[in-house]
Amino acid sequence: MPEFHLLPEAASVSATQYDYLWWYLVAVSIIMTAVIFAGVFFFAIKYRRRSETEIPKPIEGSRFLEITWSVIPFLVMLTFFFWGAALYFRNQNPPADAMNIYVVAKQWMWKVQYPNGVREINELHVPVGRAVRLTMASEDVIHSFFVPAFRLKRDVVPGRYNDMWFTATKPGRYHLFCAEYCGTEHSGMIGWVTVMLPKDFENWLAHGGGEGSMASQGQKIFQQMGCSTCHLFDEQGRCPNLKGMYGSRVLLSDGRTVVADEAYVRESILNPNAKIVAGFQKDVMPTFQGLVSEEDILELTEYIKSLSETRGGMFTSDQTGPTAGGGRGGSIGNAGQGSLDTHGTSMTNQPSRPEANAQAQSVGQPAAPKAAAPGGKQ
Ligand code: CUA
Repeated sequence: MPEFHLLPEAASVSATQYDYLWWYLVAVSIIMTAVIFAGVFFFAIKYRRRSETEIPKPIEGSRFLEITWSVIPFLVMLTFFFWGAALYFRNQNPPADAMNIYVVAKQWMWKVQYPNGVREINELHVPVGRAVRLTMASEDVIHSFFVPAFRLKRDVVPGRYNDMWFTATKPGRYHLFCAEYCGTEHSGMIGWVTVMLPKDFENWLAHGGGEGSMASQGQKIFQQMGCSTCHLFDEQGRCPNLKGMYGSRVLLSDGRTVVADEAYVRESILNPNAKIVAGFQKDVMPTFQGLVSEEDILELTEYIKSLSETRGGMFTSDQTGPTAGGGRGGSIGNAGQGSLDTHGTSMTNQPSRPEANAQAQSVGQPAAPKAAAPGGKQ
């Protein structure tokens, strides 16, 4: 006899948490329904009309009762809100050391790429017990990344990044669906998530092939598109020096400050005039809309990330000045994307190395940083 499951298998930390909440909702609903129905039947029988001539006694309202049966259910329902909100916020904020994997949705497939350059289609391999963050983009229409065993579903919307994260708890293979109607072959836009033991995953990742790390591919695009003629690394060019920019706070010409994250890099490539760094001019950089794909942008982003060993400093137009190294040194803090971004296959989270960074800042290095080498340690 086939096994009967009320819920799909639970294979992530959040799946178990959502299931507890779900069972709680079911239990409270059943209790409330039972209490209401029991009350209806009890009072219908107790206060039924006993004879044709009976005239009921008038009943006055009771403020005490009214308040009680309003306040108690209100408090019970509020537990839904607080429990749900706590889970929501937890699942909104990936831990700083989460492993980054990129997903591009396209009619009708899921394209997955790892920072070390390994690619796969309609498959996602992840290690068990480790937080994984998916940064997702769409090449065309709205798709939705849905893994029932993880109890996770997130729309993938063109024109922006959507991310989600999870920690898988059980090795195995789990269904991946597109859960948003996206055209004729929507129903075929399915795949598998494979959860592996960490050692197996390291092996798989190391032997997965690929054309070099995402950062090194991004570096090629950076050269081909001519970005390197304006974004110089050893001196101030017509466009901001990108070394050390990723993850830092950027002062804009209109006085605002933004954090240079993935969304900022993406916007700056597609709509360069949206946020001009203080000290630079509008209309110097053309838009690359239509010239680069979402995958190209992700590779460029990985490359730009690889130019920043450290995070959290203040990025201004005098970046390359003599005070740049020391000036940023004080506020250097590793925001903790870890070495995965810069070292490809290395999965360990290393502390930041301010001294190495300061050196890289002050010595005029050519455009290719060592950090971009796949699996390389500096
Ligand atoms: Cu993609 Cu439905």
